[in-house]
Amino acid sequence: MRNRRAALAAIAGAASLALTLSACGQNSEGGSEESGDSAKGGTIGIAMPTKSSERWIADGNNVKKDLESKGYKTQLVYGEDDPDQQVSQIENLITQGVKALIVAAIDNKSMNNVLQQAKDANIPVISYDRLILGTQNVDYYASFDNEKVGELQGTYIVEKLGLKDGSKKGPFNIELFAGSNDDNNTRYFFQGAMNVLQPYIDKKQLVVRSGQTKLNQVTTLRWDGGTAQKRMDDILTSAYKTERVDAVLSPYDGISIGILSALKSDDYGSKSKPLPVVTGQDAEVASVKSIIADQQSMTVYKDTRELAKVASNMVDALLNDKKPEVNDTKTYDNGAKVVPAYLLEPVAVDKGNYQKEVVDSGYIKESDLK
Ligand code: GAL
Repeated sequence: MRNRRAALAAIAGAASLALTLSACGQNSEGGSEESGDSAKGGTIGIAMPTKSSERWIADGNNVKKDLESKGYKTQLVYGEDDPDQQVSQIENLITQGVKALIVAAIDNKSMNNVLQQAKDANIPVISYDRLILGTQNVDYYASFDNEKVGELQGTYIVEKLGLKDGSKKGPFNIELFAGSNDDNNTRYFFQGAMNVLQPYIDKKQLVVRSGQTKLNQVTTLRWDGGTAQKRMDDILTSAYKTERVDAVLSPYDGISIGILSALKSDDYGSKSKPLPVVTGQDAEVASVKSIIADQQSMTVYKDTRELAKVASNMVDALLNDKKPEVNDTKTYDNGAKVVPAYLLEPVAVDKGNYQKEVVDSGYIKESDLK
């Protein structure tokens, strides 16, 4: 149903895109310039967290493209991982009179005041990928099944170690990493993974030698790869003098690359010291290359082109007095309300299926993997 609608929207959009593009120049922010000739529905504000990760660059561009193909203008801004900067960018968008906001928050708890301003100005808000917490003033949530992301990572680890089919009993050593503590997704990813891993930890088939198993001990502020690298270095020095680590739960590709750097500095990846199973998320080019080179083991692919379509369709519906399509009205309680959501399915990707999932689908160009 959604796909058919998206296809129809794409066909209809192609025509209006040509018109829109010829009417609007591009400004330095990557938005379309306001001109006298106002596009259908006005300007939509898109606030993304950072350009330091390629996925958010693609997310921003895809949302912009989808909205413009529906006849809207766009203002796309990036907060460079600074919550205050993002809040003031959103204030500016409100002042400029945007008709709706799509926000991928940096700090999910920092939005109360600015979203009250949006509410007062009658501007609907879509929480993009990351749920905004503690406010009534978020209308819809577009994301993936975030707990499933963690489950895919945990399941990959127990399968690769041979624990799942019982062919190996262990014990195996594992270390745990989680995302940024100000991102609501972090606890869902971690919970999903621990649902799978905890029974093996309880049976001592998996051992966390650092002893760091609680979410607040394993988070990585702003998902920073360097921070994760440092933590992995410290863990290897303190807990693996004689032992070897067999698996590392990593929630995100940028963190996985940091973890792999620490491991390689400690001689992992040599003949006598194989790299552990290392998970990831986002199918970023560097990580897919790493998977092809037998370093990172897997990633979780989330087709952000689809996410952009979901968010753009939500905006289009709201601005045309229609109800956006949702498929979850229970899971995402933000502390002030349960936010109706449309959740997409994540897919586990490793060396065996990356070609089909991320290359043949056009998500990554084959030439970018050379
Ligand atoms: C999360 C997102 C992940 C990953 C991470 C770091 O919110 O769901 O896919 O991108 O941020 O950017």
